[in-house]
Amino acid sequence: MCLGTACYVKGSQNIVDRIASELSVDVGKTSADGKFTLEATRCIGACGLAPVLTVNEDVYGRLVEADVVDILKKIHVMEVCMKSLDDLKNIRENTYKNMDVRNQEKGTRIVVGMATCGIAAGAKDVLIQLFQKLRLKVFLMLKSL
Ligand code: FES
Repeated sequence: MCLGTACYVKGSQNIVDRIASELSVDVGKTSADGKFTLEATRCIGACGLAPVLTVNEDVYGRLVEADVVDILKKIHVMEVCMKSLDDLKNIRENTYKNMDVRNQEKGTRIVVGMATCGIAAGAKDVLIQLFQKLRLKVFLMLKSL
């Protein structure tokens, strides 16, 4: 949180106090869960947006004390989304690893994604169609023997 002159005269001390209260962390310290470190700094060169707060690369300007709760909620939502993206990456990597598609030596492997988004996009219908076509193909192959 910027406590430079422009930010200070526009109420940055109240905002930093509110952040400290919401996160139960003192200025210059890290929260017990290790997620937040609250730092007070001097001018960050965005005085026109005073009072200014930065969270990682995001800059929040023209803040009022009431904005703190919304910003913390946004951070929490971003954290959940990023965790979901990490989970998604892990699922995809494990799926590829288990399928070993790249090292497959023979045959063709058809994969139908049956996770939530796949189902929502119609994967169930695709799978049913696929089974029907394959069953027909197997039937025709057996018939020709
Ligand atoms: S005093 Fe805060 S950005 Fe300049």
